[in-house]
Amino acid sequence: MKDAVRKIGFILVFTALSLCFAKDGSAQVYDYERMSSAIVNMLNAATDFIADNFEIINTHNAKVGQPLPKGELHSYKGINPEGFASIVGKQFAQKTGITIKFVSRGKGKHGPRNNSGKPDAWEAKQLEKFSRIQYPKGVGYGEVEQVGDKELYKMVYRYIYPLYIEHRCLKCHGNPARSPTGDGKDATGFEMEDFKLGELSGAISIIFPIE
Ligand code: HEC
Repeated sequence: MKDAVRKIGFILVFTALSLCFAKDGSAQVYDYERMSSAIVNMLNAATDFIADNFEIINTHNAKVGQPLPKGELHSYKGINPEGFASIVGKQFAQKTGITIKFVSRGKGKHGPRNNSGKPDAWEAKQLEKFSRIQYPKGVGYGEVEQVGDKELYKMVYRYIYPLYIEHRCLKCHGNPARSPTGDGKDATGFEMEDFKLGELSGAISIIFPIE
């Protein structure tokens, strides 16, 4: 009898403890998810701003908020939406240890625009999921993952958010027949991939180290 009571007591304490830990763990994951979503919104605001003001930035005597002056010289200053966000991301990573990447599978014969945009195995798997018709649009995905080998592993929280082609993206990632330089390239010198409106172009991928 005593033994049975002790056993039940043990089971109850064990269950309560594991529930506490589970709750703690999922609360932490929820925090990471909220932080990821905030970072994604911030980055999207930055890329949208650069995309919308791309001509202004690269035209002599042009000012944000004013119409594009006619007949002025145009020259690419080297700032493009994702390039700018990646630079911001690198500085952010140095200060916080949280890494940010823009990834893409490219389209047709076009791969991602540069090597840093190449998805790793986990990102490739999520991009494949995002591209399925039944996947709800605009929904990010996150999970805790173990990285590194068995002995030197660490835990990270990974989050990935799908990016779709909007009107403002087409001038660079759209139809190469509409190339501003007439050679199939966009104003930044990259080959235009012929993405269509609403199509999945890639994703923002974030990695949080877990202490
Ligand atoms: C002014 C031209 C321009 C516009 C507009 C633009 N992009 Fe890009 N995009 C680029 C360039 C250039 C790169 C390569 C950036 C780099 O790594 O230097 C890039 C990279 C990317 C990447 C990373 C994958 C890769 O191929 O390197 C994604 C995803 C992406 N763009 C999506 C978008 C989306 C979505 C929009 C619209 C909201 C958009 N872009 C608008 C020029 C543009």
